[in-house]
Amino acid sequence: MKKIIFILSVILVVLLIIWLVGRTHRQTVPNGNGYQASTRDEKIKIYDIDDLEQQVAKIIPIGGFDYIRGGAETENTMRRNETAFDDADIYPRVMTGVDNPDTRTKILGIDISMPIIAAPAAAHGLAHVSAEAGSARGVAAAGTIMSVSTYASSTLAEIAGAGNGAPQWFQLYLSKDDAVNRALVKLAENLGYRAIILTVDAPIGGNRVRDVLNDFKFPLDLPNVPRSGGRGIGAIFAAAQNNLMPYDIMRVKSLTRLPVIVKGIQHPDDAEIAIAAGADAIWVSNHGGRQLDGAPAAFEVLPEIAARVNKRVPIIFDSGIRRGQHIFKAIASGADVVAIGRPVIYGLALGGWRGVESVFEYLRADLQRVMWLAGAQTVDDIKNTELRPRCKIE
Ligand code: FNR
Ligand code: LAC
Repeated sequence: MKKIIFILSVILVVLLIIWLVGRTHRQTVPNGNGYQASTRDEKIKIYDIDDLEQQVAKIIPIGGFDYIRGGAETENTMRRNETAFDDADIYPRVMTGVDNPDTRTKILGIDISMPIIAAPAAAHGLAHVSAEAGSARGVAAAGTIMSVSTYASSTLAEIAGAGNGAPQWFQLYLSKDDAVNRALVKLAENLGYRAIILTVDAPIGGNRVRDVLNDFKFPLDLPNVPRSGGRGIGAIFAAAQNNLMPYDIMRVKSLTRLPVIVKGIQHPDDAEIAIAAGADAIWVSNHGGRQLDGAPAAFEVLPEIAARVNKRVPIIFDSGIRRGQHIFKAIASGADVVAIGRPVIYGLALGGWRGVESVFEYLRADLQRVMWLAGAQTVDDIKNTELRPRCKIE
């Protein structure tokens, strides 16, 4: 009997130690309503962006994780965003004398270290306690542009402060209340944001089954949306303007002297309409497959939109970018720069601002290697490269 009690006590102590070590290693603290976001602060080792997703799943609560990584309905469009890149091949040129390719480029007058920027994404606070302020610091350290969502969990002032003069763009979700729109755009202007991104592919939220199953609600208020804490993204979208028209681009243009970028274009006719309404840039995107499932991969529609835009305005591209070859293929298909959404948030969860910097540095290095192997010295060289459609061997 004594022996059994002794063995049970040893097992108990071992379990206690495992639990305690597990707790400290998770390094998380409560955010609100018991939600525990990461507090990590370290550079991260990356060999594959998709692998980061698995790691993040282990360190933040399932509701927040599913909201971030999830797509709409069957998630087919989301998956195709990544696999569509496999249907076009880079046609490598050798003996080109390329040496240490230069990834620097320029967009809307802003010099950046790489043709890769941060896409606007809601609620970075779900991933890390430093939220968008942390992301902005990491993006600034990487030398590129931070886009900030209306539904950010840090305030616009905190994010501007963390960026410390580095370029930032503000993404606007139009409110039904025009006074709110005016105030947000003015605030962004006064804080030094350098462009307004008007997102037009989310008049309502997509059917995000994971959020439905989890009954996911934001654990804290999003500072630009009063009383958002305790509400889901569907309810927040429903409270915004749900009937967008080309006229709304003109309205936003009239509110600001900053360039207005129209985000969420998937059809060449809509690119045409947006330019006619005054868009200073077109952002080709299907919102990372989070809105309309059953729509094409973003990469599939890029060439036809680029052909229609015909260099009248710059093109930003996102949805599914995970590798240097994806970036190369997007730029060779007409994008001027690409943006990343989920990878930024994964970097933030796994390493705070240093993790965000690691993600950008990994993609920059990967792109540089692809450029070297494909025979492109500069980003302009990539633009002049033709991809080779994949040939099916019967
Ligand atoms: C987004 N996205 C987004 N877009 C936008 O214009 N405003 C927003 O508030 C948000 N919020 C948001 C939250 C989260 C968690 C994600 C993952 C995405 C879409 C984002 O800007 C971008 O289009 C996609 O993330 C690009 O796809 P990848 O890079 O995530 O595959
Ligand atoms: C999303 C938003 C907020 O995709 O755009 O969740």
